[in-house]
Formats: sequence, C-alpha cells, structure tokens
Amino acid sequence: MAGKLTLIVGPMYSGKTTELLSYVEIYKLGKKRVIIFKPALDNRYGTTAVKTHAGLEVEAIAVEKASDILRYMNHPVEAIFFDEVQFFDKDLVRIVRDLLDKNVNVFCAGLDMTFKQNPFETTALLMSLATEIIKKRAVCNLCGEYNATLTYKLVKDDSEIDVGGKEKYIAVCRDCYNQLISSAKE
Ligand code: ADP
Ligand code: TMP
Ligand code: MG
Ligand code: ZN
Repeated sequence: MAGKLTLIVGPMYSGKTTELLSYVEIYKLGKKRVIIFKPALDNRYGTTAVKTHAGLEVEAIAVEKASDILRYMNHPVEAIFFDEVQFFDKDLVRIVRDLLDKNVNVFCAGLDMTFKQNPFETTALLMSLATEIIKKRAVCNLCGEYNATLTYKLVKDDSEIDVGGKEKYIAVCRDCYNQLISSAKE
C-alpha cells in the first residue's frame, strides 16, 4: 500500500517537533525501522539531534540538501521523518512523492510562514501533497491565549532565514501581531 504523508505545521513553539517525535516513538515502540532527517542549516542543537523547545531530543541525520537523503536509503524503512522542512530545497517534494510510491510513510514538521507571513515554499508544496495536515497553535506571548498562529521577530533583522529561538522570536496571535507591527512603526 502506498505511503501516507503527514505534515505538521504552525508557528514557532506550537509543538511541531514534539508531535513529530511522538510519531517517532510510536514507530520505535513497534520496533519499526525509521530514519530522522533535519537540514544542516539548523545548527541550534548540534548536527546530530532534533530537539524540542522543552528539551526532548532524538538522534537525526543532518543533510545539506534534500537529495543527500538518498544515500541513507540503502536499508528498507517503514517511516521517514523530516524536521524543519521549511529549510529544505524543493527537491524534497519529489523525493517524498517517490517515498510514498515505495510504500514508506513520511512525517514532516515545519513552519508554514516566515515572521513576515510569507509562505515557506517547500512547506507550501508539501501541503499540496499531504494526506493529512496538522495545524498547530502556540500560546500567544502577549495576551496568553492559546491562539498563536504567527511568529514575530523581536530583533531588527530583515532576514527570513535566520536560525534562532527565544532571543529572536515569539509566538503571537493575529491581533497581537498587528499591534506589535503598528507600534514598531510609531
Ligand atoms: P516547535 O517545533 O513548533 O517550535 P516544540 O515542539 O519544539 O515546538 O516545542 C513545544 C514546547 O515549547 C511546548 O511543549 C512548551 O514547553 C514550549 N513553549 C515555549 N513557549 C511556548 C508558547 N508560547 N506556546 C506553547 N509552548 C511553548
Ligand atoms: P521551530 O519551528 O522548531 O521553533 O524552529 C524554527 C526555526 O526557523 C528557528 O531556527 C528560527 C527559524 N526561523 C526563520 O529562519 N525565519 C522565520 O521567519 C521564522 C519565523 C523562524
Ligand atoms: Mg521545532
Ligand atoms: Zn495575542
């Protein structure tokens, strides 16, 4: 049977990586073979681990470009996991499609939008291919409601590809995002 693509999206701190790792655990409990990949660009936690903001981590393979994953595919696996898909090049989409055709289940987690609310292209393309999309929310850093769908950048740096954590980014709801943008303009 063809594989399924489960895609987990949302702003920073919304539990995307936590949910991805909960699926990893299910496969590992069932003694199923899995591989976990992350982009080499995300160097926050060293090159060999996927880690959540709460500190949970698992071993992963860091790759420079999507096609690099093919060299790790010499053993049969039941599922393949990708964290931070927004940082993978678009070749990932074709590779994921081939994996589904080879009956491998694929789980991806990543940001849907930049802090400027521009879509991350690889995530957007994976959304069209996905069997299931799980859209996560975070707690808004300003109003405290569990309705944050956006990420706001605290530092004055326009770059939409800029690895970091709490020193640079907060999760906010749309109303609080708009308030922050208008007060930053004043
Ligand atoms: P993501 O990969 O989406 O950035 P993680 O799965 O790494 O998220 O981290 C989720 C964890 O982040 C939560 O379990 C919680 O401990 C922590 N956290 C920090 N700030 C927030 C927030 N504003 N809303 C929700 N969780 C938060
Ligand atoms: P996270 O979703 O697991 O918290 O990680 C998101 C990573 O993406 C983090 O390293 C910060 C980075 N990032 C950008 O490069 N550009 C952006 O616009 C946003 C919101 C985050
Ligand atoms: Mg994450
Ligand atoms: Zn809010």
